[in-house]
Amino acid sequence: MDVALKIWRFDPESGERVLKDYEVEAPEWACLLDVLDIVKDKVDGTLAYRKSCRMMICGSCGMRMDGAAVLACKERMKPIVDAGHVPVISPMGNLPVLKDLVVDMDPFWAKMRHMKPWLEPGYADPGEKENIVSQDQVEVIHKEALCINCGCCVSECNSMESDPEFFGPAALAKGMRFVGDARDAETAERLERYSDYHGIWDCTRCYFCTERCPKGVDPRDAIAKLGAEAMRHGIDRDMGAKHAKWFVKSAETTGWLRETELVPKTQGVVASIKQIKFAMSLARHGKVPPPFPPHVAKDVGEARALHDLVRQQNRQGAAGIVQGEKAIAHIEFHEGGEPEKGPASRVDPTKAGGKSGGD
Ligand code: SF4
Ligand code: SF4
Ligand code: FES
Repeated sequence: MDVALKIWRFDPESGERVLKDYEVEAPEWACLLDVLDIVKDKVDGTLAYRKSCRMMICGSCGMRMDGAAVLACKERMKPIVDAGHVPVISPMGNLPVLKDLVVDMDPFWAKMRHMKPWLEPGYADPGEKENIVSQDQVEVIHKEALCINCGCCVSECNSMESDPEFFGPAALAKGMRFVGDARDAETAERLERYSDYHGIWDCTRCYFCTERCPKGVDPRDAIAKLGAEAMRHGIDRDMGAKHAKWFVKSAETTGWLRETELVPKTQGVVASIKQIKFAMSLARHGKVPPPFPPHVAKDVGEARALHDLVRQQNRQGAAGIVQGEKAIAHIEFHEGGEPEKGPASRVDPTKAGGKSGGD
């Protein structure tokens, strides 16, 4: 088949950036990476891109096709050719471009390292027996453990565009991979670290990371679980956490989002006083309802009943984040009937030599 492509080329020496057209003959089974190889072999040997495994495992070949991040070794070209489309290939976003389709991954790795992406089991002596983790415990972090560090989620992250220091979806998903690990003994320390500026609460919930992740890691879900776990551990100093708590409280009490009280409840009294002029201006333009008496929804009973129902289920922390995922459903209905109290039953390092027991 004849494959036509447009590729954004970047020359770091001249600083020149140009969109170039290519047309090559490729077999019908070719993926984008195969086509790039043909271009490099037969048309222009200076074309730069990364690759290694060719089978969606190493995470090297992340790039953008028509403005959205993809793994080049995953994208089949035949349907695109059949549709008569000429895709535009460019480097991933939110990372500095080194040459053509190659980006600098150093900022990505720095954020990964900040997550302390290794197990802290809380004991020095591993003992003689293996550390058994149950299937239920593994499923809590099943999705997060699938990450191949490709950076496709980071490329599309809305929050990172406005704040390059934001930890980002890949690093935070890695964080959840360890917060949810039943063998890890530094859950609270990790949650403190991840709740800092540029952390959990700076996510705008745009879901682009989840949409573009080629491995189904669902980073936004991981971030939601981190937020819920932080709350469960009483780590709620961030305005984002206070914001979320007020949403719940105001829905429970009035069946309504009391936005006029959102600023004092999340930013405090001093910040609210500073905002009075702005608030008055909004009020003059009819943009805010009067705060007193608080508006109570007609069917507030339903909101309260729903709140009670969720409370009775006692799904604390990550177990309360339900986005239709199999792992959470599995926790709720696991053998024995009682819901888990957290993302997993914790290993108590003070007991049984820190082992999860069973052999
Ligand atoms: S949901 Fe959050 S982490 Fe994911 S892309 Fe959007 S802002 Fe970034
Ligand atoms: S979460 Fe998905 S998109 Fe992000 S680095 Fe991991 S595998 Fe790639
Ligand atoms: S080359 Fe390894 S993921 Fe594409």
